[in-house]
Amino acid sequence: MIIGFLGTGAISEAIIRGLCEESGYQGPILVTQRSVERSSRLAHDYPQVEVIDNNNALVERSEWVFLGVLPEQVTEVLNALTFRPEQKLISLAAGISLAQIQALAPPCDQVIRAIPMPPIEFGLGPVALCPTDTPLEAFFSRIGTAVSVSDEQQFNLFGATSALMADYFDQIATVTTWMASHGMDSSTAARYTTALYHALSALTTKQSPDALQMMSEQCQTPGGLNEQFLIERAERGANDSLRDGLDQILTRLESVARNSR
Ligand SMILES: NC(=O)c1ccc[n+]([C@@H]2O[C@H](COP(=O)([O-])OP(=O)(O)OC[C@H]3O[C@@H](n4cnc5c(N)ncnc54)[C@H](OP(=O)(O)O)[C@@H]3O)[C@@H](O)[C@H]2O)c1
Repeated sequence: MIIGFLGTGAISEAIIRGLCEESGYQGPILVTQRSVERSSRLAHDYPQVEVIDNNNALVERSEWVFLGVLPEQVTEVLNALTFRPEQKLISLAAGISLAQIQALAPPCDQVIRAIPMPPIEFGLGPVALCPTDTPLEAFFSRIGTAVSVSDEQQFNLFGATSALMADYFDQIATVTTWMASHGMDSSTAARYTTALYHALSALTTKQSPDALQMMSEQCQTPGGLNEQFLIERAERGANDSLRDGLDQILTRLESVARNSR
């Protein structure tokens, strides 16, 4: 099968590197020439990557087409292309609905939205999909955890949750800086915090929803340090602010979806 990337930007590169480095993917991968440095680098690094300097030629040759341009570039890019009914068009563009993509890419009737995250480059992280598509789930499972829903409103919950990334890194950086502010060498502090967050995150994967709810409770000793810290943060509204922040992002995504119908 030939897959093609319309738009060779940061996230397309992460997917391609993940496929070639982490999953041993051998199939042909076509990429558009822009951004030329990135597309040339990918073709240089992986023999199965071919740079195509014409978007229509890429679509013509690809069975699956990944749409990796910025949301504001989607209309112009798709309007200039001709699809076939049996092609799969996988849109990575944030906030652009399935109906919009379908209207811009007739007669292609297999349109799927996907939210890969940058760690896909290392074969890690969730890839949200809508609607469910078994072959595409299998494809992304090579380099991440594919999670599908068929309801596009629910898909916005993945979009909102994907906004946690900067806050998560900021939390680790803040804890590391706090340790350094008390006199610890920052490399020692970072070695500790990154190992701690890594281990805690690893423990949560594949837990059932019920087990996940119990994890916090299970690591608290009555009167202990974890209990004290959790209570103090809860009293300052840490989880309320987390839920409020997510609500605000969801509202924004829903408003974009409403305005684009
Ligand atoms: N980055 C992420 O973590 C992430 C995660 C999930 C989803 N997404 C979505 O993925 C899409 C791409 O994001 P990105 O961060 O990868 O953006 P990006 O790095 O800016 O990539 C966009 C690419 O599209 C190219 N492009 C623009 N117009 C084109 C055209 N007419 N023909 C061919 N290529 C064209 C750009 O080339 P030039 O550089 O020459 O303009 C650039 O290589 C966005 O819609 C975003 O919402 C991103």
